[in-house]
Amino acid sequence: MNLNKQLINDFVNVTSKAAASCYKHIGKDDKILADKSATDSMRENLNNLDIDGEVVIGEGELDEAPMLYIGEKLGTGKGPLVDIAVDPVEGTNFVAKNLPDALSVMSISSKGNLFNAPETYMDKIAVRKNVPFDATDLDFSIEKNIKNIAESQNKKICEITACLLNRPRHKEIIDKLSSLNVNLKLINDGDVSGALLVTNDKYKVDIFLGIGGGPEGVLAASALDAFGCKFQGRFLFKTDNDIVRAKKMGIKDLNKKYELSEIIRGDSLFCATGITSGDLVNGIKIDNGKYIAETLLTYKKTISIVKKEIPIT
Ligand code: FBP
Repeated sequence: MNLNKQLINDFVNVTSKAAASCYKHIGKDDKILADKSATDSMRENLNNLDIDGEVVIGEGELDEAPMLYIGEKLGTGKGPLVDIAVDPVEGTNFVAKNLPDALSVMSISSKGNLFNAPETYMDKIAVRKNVPFDATDLDFSIEKNIKNIAESQNKKICEITACLLNRPRHKEIIDKLSSLNVNLKLINDGDVSGALLVTNDKYKVDIFLGIGGGPEGVLAASALDAFGCKFQGRFLFKTDNDIVRAKKMGIKDLNKKYELSEIIRGDSLFCATGITSGDLVNGIKIDNGKYIAETLLTYKKTISIVKKEIPIT
Protein backbone atom coordinates (compact mmCIF):
# COMPACT_ATOMS: atom_id res chain seq x y z
CA MET A 1 0.00 0.00 0.00
CA ASN A 2 1.54 3.27 -1.08
CA LEU A 3 0.03 6.34 0.53
CA ASN A 4 1.26 9.80 -0.33
CA LYS A 5 2.50 12.17 2.39
CA GLN A 6 -0.64 14.26 2.24
CA LEU A 7 -2.90 11.27 2.87
CA ILE A 8 -0.72 10.00 5.73
CA ASN A 9 -0.93 13.45 7.25
CA ASP A 10 -4.70 13.45 6.72
CA PHE A 11 -5.05 10.14 8.60
CA VAL A 12 -3.07 11.54 11.54
CA ASN A 13 -5.45 14.50 11.51
CA VAL A 14 -8.42 12.15 11.76
CA THR A 15 -7.37 10.56 15.07
CA SER A 16 -5.96 13.90 16.31
CA LYS A 17 -9.30 15.62 15.78
CA ALA A 18 -11.22 12.67 17.24
CA ALA A 19 -9.03 12.79 20.36
CA ALA A 20 -9.41 16.58 20.62
CA SER A 21 -13.19 16.23 20.35
CA CYS A 22 -13.07 14.19 23.57
CA TYR A 23 -11.23 16.84 25.55
CA LYS A 24 -14.45 18.33 26.93
CA HIS A 25 -15.59 14.87 28.07
CA ILE A 26 -12.49 14.00 30.08
CA GLY A 27 -13.54 13.36 33.67
CA LYS A 28 -17.26 13.91 32.99
CA ASP A 29 -18.19 10.34 33.84
CA ASP A 30 -19.98 9.80 30.53
CA LYS A 31 -18.20 7.29 28.35
CA ILE A 32 -21.05 7.07 25.84
CA LEU A 33 -20.89 10.76 25.07
CA ALA A 34 -17.08 10.69 24.76
CA ASP A 35 -17.30 7.76 22.34
CA LYS A 36 -20.03 9.47 20.31
CA SER A 37 -18.06 12.65 20.03
CA ALA A 38 -14.92 10.87 18.75
CA THR A 39 -16.95 8.66 16.42
CA ASP A 40 -18.79 11.60 14.84
CA SER A 41 -15.51 13.43 14.38
CA MET A 42 -13.85 10.40 12.77
CA ARG A 43 -16.74 9.83 10.40
CA GLU A 44 -16.88 13.46 9.32
CA ASN A 45 -13.13 13.73 8.75
CA LEU A 46 -12.75 10.38 7.00
CA ASN A 47 -15.63 11.26 4.69
CA ASN A 48 -13.76 14.37 3.56
CA LEU A 49 -10.74 12.36 2.41
CA ASP A 50 -10.09 11.22 -1.14
CA ILE A 51 -10.28 7.53 -0.32
CA ASP A 52 -12.59 4.70 -1.28
CA GLY A 53 -12.80 3.26 2.21
CA GLU A 54 -14.81 0.64 4.05
CA VAL A 55 -14.96 0.04 7.79
CA VAL A 56 -13.95 -3.57 8.53
CA ILE A 57 -13.56 -3.08 12.27
CA GLY A 58 -15.87 -0.59 13.86
CA GLU A 59 -18.45 0.01 16.49
CA GLY A 60 -20.69 -2.97 15.83
CA GLU A 61 -22.97 -3.75 12.94
CA LEU A 62 -25.46 -1.42 11.31
CA ASP A 63 -28.50 -2.86 13.04
CA GLU A 64 -27.13 -2.52 16.56
CA ALA A 65 -24.77 0.45 16.72
CA PRO A 66 -25.06 2.82 13.80
CA MET A 67 -21.72 4.48 14.57
CA LEU A 68 -18.91 3.70 12.13
CA TYR A 69 -20.41 0.28 11.63
CA ILE A 70 -18.76 -2.63 9.86
CA GLY A 71 -19.38 -2.28 6.14
CA GLU A 72 -19.83 1.52 6.25
CA LYS A 73 -18.33 3.24 3.21
CA LEU A 74 -16.18 6.27 3.92
CA GLY A 75 -14.42 8.90 1.85
CA THR A 76 -15.17 10.67 -1.42
CA GLY A 77 -14.72 7.42 -3.33
CA LYS A 78 -12.05 9.02 -5.51
CA GLY A 79 -8.82 7.76 -3.95
CA PRO A 80 -7.22 4.43 -3.02
CA LEU A 81 -9.35 1.44 -2.07
CA VAL A 82 -8.70 0.92 1.63
CA ASP A 83 -9.98 -1.06 4.61
CA ILE A 84 -10.34 0.87 7.84
CA ALA A 85 -10.29 -0.33 11.45
CA VAL A 86 -11.43 2.23 14.00
CA ASP A 87 -11.60 2.50 17.74
CA PRO A 88 -12.54 6.16 18.18
CA VAL A 89 -12.00 5.86 21.95
CA GLU A 90 -9.89 2.99 23.21
CA GLY A 91 -10.40 3.15 26.97
CA THR A 92 -13.78 4.88 27.24
CA ASN A 93 -13.63 4.50 31.04
CA PHE A 94 -10.28 6.26 31.09
CA VAL A 95 -11.82 9.32 29.45
CA ALA A 96 -14.91 9.25 31.67
CA LYS A 97 -12.81 8.93 34.84
CA ASN A 98 -9.87 11.11 33.72
CA LEU A 99 -7.37 8.27 33.92
CA PRO A 100 -4.22 7.77 31.82
CA ASP A 101 -3.91 5.84 28.56
CA ALA A 102 -7.08 6.75 26.63
CA LEU A 103 -6.37 6.74 22.88
CA SER A 104 -8.13 7.37 19.62
CA VAL A 105 -7.01 4.60 17.28
CA MET A 106 -7.25 3.73 13.61
CA SER A 107 -5.57 1.39 11.17
CA ILE A 108 -5.65 1.46 7.36
CA SER A 109 -4.65 -1.14 4.80
CA SER A 110 -5.19 -1.86 1.14
CA LYS A 111 -8.57 -3.46 0.46
CA GLY A 112 -8.72 -7.01 1.83
CA ASN A 113 -5.54 -6.81 3.91
CA LEU A 114 -6.95 -6.15 7.41
CA PHE A 115 -8.50 -9.09 9.17
CA ASN A 116 -12.25 -8.73 9.42
CA ALA A 117 -12.48 -9.31 13.17
CA PRO A 118 -15.77 -10.19 14.81
CA GLU A 119 -16.81 -8.32 17.94
CA THR A 120 -15.80 -11.12 20.27
CA TYR A 121 -12.97 -11.73 22.68
CA MET A 122 -9.54 -12.78 21.55
CA ASP A 123 -6.85 -14.65 23.42
CA LYS A 124 -3.63 -12.76 22.67
CA ILE A 125 0.07 -12.90 23.13
CA ALA A 126 2.61 -10.24 22.13
CA VAL A 127 6.33 -10.28 22.76
CA ARG A 128 9.36 -8.16 22.05
CA LYS A 129 11.04 -8.23 18.68
CA ASN A 130 14.24 -9.83 19.99
CA VAL A 131 12.43 -12.93 21.31
CA PRO A 132 12.87 -15.77 18.78
CA PHE A 133 9.69 -16.45 16.84
CA ASP A 134 9.21 -20.01 18.10
CA ALA A 135 10.00 -19.22 21.75
CA THR A 136 6.40 -18.31 22.58
CA ASP A 137 3.04 -19.63 21.51
CA LEU A 138 -0.58 -19.36 22.60
CA ASP A 139 -0.56 -23.15 22.92
CA PHE A 140 2.45 -23.29 25.25
CA SER A 141 1.92 -23.29 28.99
CA ILE A 142 2.49 -19.98 30.79
CA GLU A 143 5.57 -21.51 32.36
CA LYS A 144 7.08 -22.53 29.03
CA ASN A 145 6.48 -19.11 27.46
CA ILE A 146 8.02 -17.31 30.42
CA LYS A 147 11.02 -19.64 30.68
CA ASN A 148 11.71 -19.32 26.95
CA ILE A 149 11.49 -15.53 27.09
CA ALA A 150 13.80 -15.38 30.11
CA GLU A 151 16.32 -17.66 28.42
CA SER A 152 16.29 -15.68 25.18
CA GLN A 153 16.81 -12.42 27.06
CA ASN A 154 19.44 -13.76 29.44
CA LYS A 155 17.23 -12.82 32.35
CA LYS A 156 16.07 -14.57 35.47
CA ILE A 157 12.34 -15.37 35.60
CA CYS A 158 11.95 -12.90 38.47
CA GLU A 159 13.18 -10.19 36.09
CA ILE A 160 10.41 -10.83 33.53
CA THR A 161 7.33 -8.58 33.48
CA ALA A 162 3.97 -9.69 32.08
CA CYS A 163 1.20 -7.22 31.25
CA LEU A 164 -2.46 -8.25 31.18
CA LEU A 165 -5.95 -6.94 31.82
CA ASN A 166 -6.93 -7.18 35.47
CA ARG A 167 -10.01 -9.36 35.07
CA PRO A 168 -11.47 -12.26 37.08
CA ARG A 169 -11.17 -14.41 33.93
CA HIS A 170 -7.38 -14.08 34.24
CA LYS A 171 -7.18 -15.34 37.84
CA GLU A 172 -5.54 -18.60 36.85
CA ILE A 173 -2.93 -16.86 34.68
CA ILE A 174 -2.23 -14.25 37.35
CA ASP A 175 -1.84 -16.95 40.02
CA LYS A 176 0.52 -18.91 37.77
CA LEU A 177 2.63 -15.86 36.97
CA SER A 178 2.80 -14.96 40.65
CA SER A 179 3.83 -18.47 41.63
CA LEU A 180 6.66 -18.21 39.08
CA ASN A 181 7.67 -14.89 40.65
CA VAL A 182 7.07 -12.97 37.40
CA ASN A 183 6.45 -9.23 37.80
CA LEU A 184 2.89 -8.25 36.95
CA LYS A 185 1.65 -5.14 35.21
CA LEU A 186 -2.12 -5.34 35.58
CA ILE A 187 -4.04 -2.84 33.50
CA ASN A 188 -7.68 -1.93 34.09
CA ASP A 189 -8.57 -1.30 30.43
CA GLY A 190 -6.94 -0.44 27.14
CA ASP A 191 -5.29 -3.53 25.83
CA VAL A 192 -4.17 -1.92 22.57
CA SER A 193 -1.85 0.24 24.59
CA GLY A 194 -1.04 -2.72 26.89
CA ALA A 195 0.08 -4.85 23.93
CA LEU A 196 2.22 -2.01 22.61
CA LEU A 197 4.26 -1.96 25.81
CA VAL A 198 6.37 -4.78 24.36
CA THR A 199 7.60 -2.44 21.63
CA ASN A 200 10.30 -0.73 23.64
CA ASP A 201 12.59 -1.75 26.53
CA LYS A 202 11.74 1.49 28.31
CA TYR A 203 8.27 0.17 29.18
CA LYS A 204 9.83 -2.83 30.94
CA VAL A 205 7.20 -5.30 29.67
CA ASP A 206 8.42 -8.60 28.22
CA ILE A 207 5.10 -10.20 27.34
CA PHE A 208 1.53 -9.06 26.92
CA LEU A 209 -1.04 -11.83 27.23
CA GLY A 210 -4.62 -12.75 28.03
CA ILE A 211 -8.11 -12.19 26.74
CA GLY A 212 -9.35 -8.85 25.44
CA GLY A 213 -11.36 -7.51 22.52
CA GLY A 214 -10.80 -9.07 19.10
CA PRO A 215 -10.97 -5.74 17.24
CA GLU A 216 -8.39 -4.31 19.67
CA GLY A 217 -6.18 -7.31 18.85
CA VAL A 218 -6.22 -6.47 15.13
CA LEU A 219 -5.46 -2.81 15.82
CA ALA A 220 -2.54 -3.69 18.09
CA ALA A 221 -1.23 -6.18 15.50
CA SER A 222 -1.11 -3.42 12.90
CA ALA A 223 1.32 -1.39 15.04
CA LEU A 224 3.25 -4.41 16.33
CA ASP A 225 3.95 -5.33 12.71
CA ALA A 226 5.81 -2.05 12.18
CA PHE A 227 7.85 -2.65 15.34
CA GLY A 228 8.71 -6.21 14.24
CA CYS A 229 7.16 -7.72 17.40
CA LYS A 230 5.41 -11.07 17.48
CA PHE A 231 1.63 -11.26 17.96
CA GLN A 232 -0.73 -14.23 17.96
CA GLY A 233 -4.47 -14.24 18.50
CA ARG A 234 -7.31 -16.72 18.73
CA PHE A 235 -10.96 -15.63 18.78
CA LEU A 236 -13.20 -16.90 21.54
CA PHE A 237 -16.86 -17.35 20.75
CA LYS A 238 -19.23 -17.40 23.70
CA THR A 239 -22.68 -17.39 22.17
CA ASP A 240 -24.35 -18.99 19.15
CA ASN A 241 -24.84 -15.51 17.79
CA ASP A 242 -21.05 -14.92 17.96
CA ILE A 243 -20.55 -18.08 15.94
CA VAL A 244 -23.15 -17.15 13.33
CA ARG A 245 -21.49 -13.75 12.89
CA ALA A 246 -18.02 -15.24 12.65
CA LYS A 247 -19.16 -17.63 9.96
CA LYS A 248 -20.82 -14.75 8.12
CA MET A 249 -17.46 -13.00 8.17
CA GLY A 250 -15.85 -16.00 6.52
CA ILE A 251 -14.21 -17.64 9.56
CA LYS A 252 -14.36 -21.40 8.98
CA ASP A 253 -12.11 -22.79 11.69
CA LEU A 254 -13.38 -21.24 14.94
CA ASN A 255 -10.34 -22.46 16.91
CA LYS A 256 -7.74 -21.15 14.54
CA LYS A 257 -4.69 -19.45 15.99
CA TYR A 258 -3.80 -16.45 13.84
CA GLU A 259 -0.26 -15.23 13.30
CA LEU A 260 0.31 -11.51 12.83
CA SER A 261 0.96 -12.02 9.11
CA GLU A 262 -2.53 -13.50 8.73
CA ILE A 263 -4.16 -10.63 10.60
CA ILE A 264 -2.28 -7.86 8.79
CA ARG A 265 -1.45 -8.81 5.22
CA GLY A 266 1.04 -6.44 3.63
CA ASP A 267 1.63 -2.92 4.88
CA SER A 268 -0.66 -0.97 7.12
CA LEU A 269 -0.84 2.47 8.65
CA PHE A 270 -1.62 2.82 12.36
CA CYS A 271 -2.42 6.02 14.27
CA ALA A 272 -3.01 6.28 18.01
CA THR A 273 -3.57 9.77 19.38
CA GLY A 274 -3.49 10.35 23.13
CA ILE A 275 -6.69 11.60 24.72
CA THR A 276 -5.32 11.37 28.24
CA SER A 277 -1.56 11.02 28.75
CA GLY A 278 -0.15 7.54 28.99
CA ASP A 279 2.94 5.47 28.40
CA LEU A 280 2.83 5.76 24.62
CA VAL A 281 1.80 9.36 23.96
CA ASN A 282 0.74 12.52 25.75
CA GLY A 283 -2.91 13.38 25.98
CA ILE A 284 -4.64 16.44 24.51
CA LYS A 285 -3.32 19.71 25.88
CA ILE A 286 -4.34 23.30 25.26
CA ASP A 287 -1.61 25.74 24.27
CA ASN A 288 -1.99 29.21 22.76
CA GLY A 289 -5.70 28.71 22.21
CA LYS A 290 -5.25 25.45 20.29
CA TYR A 291 -5.44 21.76 21.13
CA ILE A 292 -2.11 19.98 20.88
CA ALA A 293 -2.51 16.33 19.90
CA GLU A 294 0.26 13.74 19.98
CA THR A 295 0.02 10.66 17.74
CA LEU A 296 2.00 7.46 17.50
CA LEU A 297 2.15 6.85 13.75
CA THR A 298 3.44 3.70 12.14
CA TYR A 299 3.45 3.26 8.38
CA LYS A 300 5.13 0.23 6.86
CA LYS A 301 8.24 -0.05 9.08
CA THR A 302 8.48 3.65 9.95
CA ILE A 303 7.58 4.78 13.46
CA SER A 304 7.14 8.37 14.56
CA ILE A 305 5.42 10.62 17.06
CA VAL A 306 3.55 13.41 15.31
CA LYS A 307 2.28 16.59 17.00
CA LYS A 308 -0.66 18.47 15.57
CA GLU A 309 -2.29 21.76 16.44
CA ILE A 310 -6.08 21.56 16.22
CA PRO A 311 -8.14 24.75 16.29
CA ILE A 312 -10.66 24.92 19.14
CA THR A 313 -14.07 25.32 17.53
P1 FBP B 1 -13.66 0.38 25.54
O1 FBP B 1 -12.75 1.52 25.32
O2 FBP B 1 -14.49 0.08 24.32
O3 FBP B 1 -14.45 0.56 26.78
O4 FBP B 1 -12.74 -0.95 25.68
C1 FBP B 1 -11.79 -1.03 26.71
C2 FBP B 1 -11.20 -2.42 26.81
O5 FBP B 1 -10.42 -2.48 27.99
C3 FBP B 1 -10.33 -2.86 25.63
O6 FBP B 1 -9.07 -2.28 25.60
C4 FBP B 1 -10.29 -4.34 25.84
O7 FBP B 1 -9.93 -5.04 24.67
C5 FBP B 1 -11.70 -4.64 26.30
O8 FBP B 1 -12.21 -3.41 26.87
C6 FBP B 1 -11.78 -5.73 27.31
O9 FBP B 1 -13.11 -6.03 27.52
P2 FBP B 1 -13.71 -6.36 28.97
O10 FBP B 1 -13.81 -5.03 29.69
O11 FBP B 1 -15.04 -6.96 28.68
O12 FBP B 1 -12.77 -7.26 29.67
